[in-house]
Amino acid sequence: MRKEDIPQVTEIDREAFPTLWPPANYQRELQNRLAHYIVACDEEERVEPPEPKAIPKKGFPGLVSRLRRFFGNELPSPGRQYIFGFTGFWMMTGEAHITNLAVWEKHRRQGIGESLLIALIDLATELDVRFITLEVRASNTAAQSLYSKYGFTQVGVRHGYYTDNREDGVLMSLEISPQPRFRQTSSG
Ligand SMILES: CC(C)(COP(=O)(O)OP(=O)(O)OC[C@H]1O[C@@H](n2cnc3c(N)ncnc32)[C@H](O)[C@@H]1OP(=O)(O)O)[C@@H](O)C(=O)NCCC(=O)NCCS
Repeated sequence: MRKEDIPQVTEIDREAFPTLWPPANYQRELQNRLAHYIVACDEEERVEPPEPKAIPKKGFPGLVSRLRRFFGNELPSPGRQYIFGFTGFWMMTGEAHITNLAVWEKHRRQGIGESLLIALIDLATELDVRFITLEVRASNTAAQSLYSKYGFTQVGVRHGYYTDNREDGVLMSLEISPQPRFRQTSSG
């Protein structure tokens, strides 16, 4: 994750998950070699530090191509770009476990969450995972509907999983078909 993305990602996280305790620590996630994060951003809109102040233009042409992956702070920064939302996962022995997926409330229902999930599935597939898993609150029908749309199915329930209100966590999973591997064969 690029360091300069952290303030905006943290704000989006706090808006989406206000009762999460302990709150996610994206500084620490930057150091986590198992973590992969993707942000959806507007390359043209610049944000002044420390908080996002600019309101992006309406519409998101070419959003998918502007989804930017970030794995570490290795990329040079052209400036702070306005971030609409983000997602992330941890790699764990052939499994990608989604840790977060969130979009600013004012930008929801415009296809951004879906674009992020597609980018995550693509990346996990490239990394050869067999399963993508996640927990989602039982009451969070919006997110469950998004995951179902992309083939995730409910595989279990963790009773009282969420510490703030003891709500159940629905465990969802998507199996990734192995990618065909091509190898050179000698003939004749
Ligand atoms: C879940 C979330 C990321 C969806 O992002 P989004 O950008 O609004 O979603 P999209 O516009 O891409 O919608 C894609 C699909 O998600 C589902 N969906 C999204 N919002 C929905 C809602 N309010 N009610 C029902 N379904 C909804 C639908 O299946 C939708 O497909 P459709 O447009 O064909 O009906 C967003 O609501 C969010 O940030 N929520 C708070 C954080 C959260 O709950 N994250 C999930 C943690 S597991």
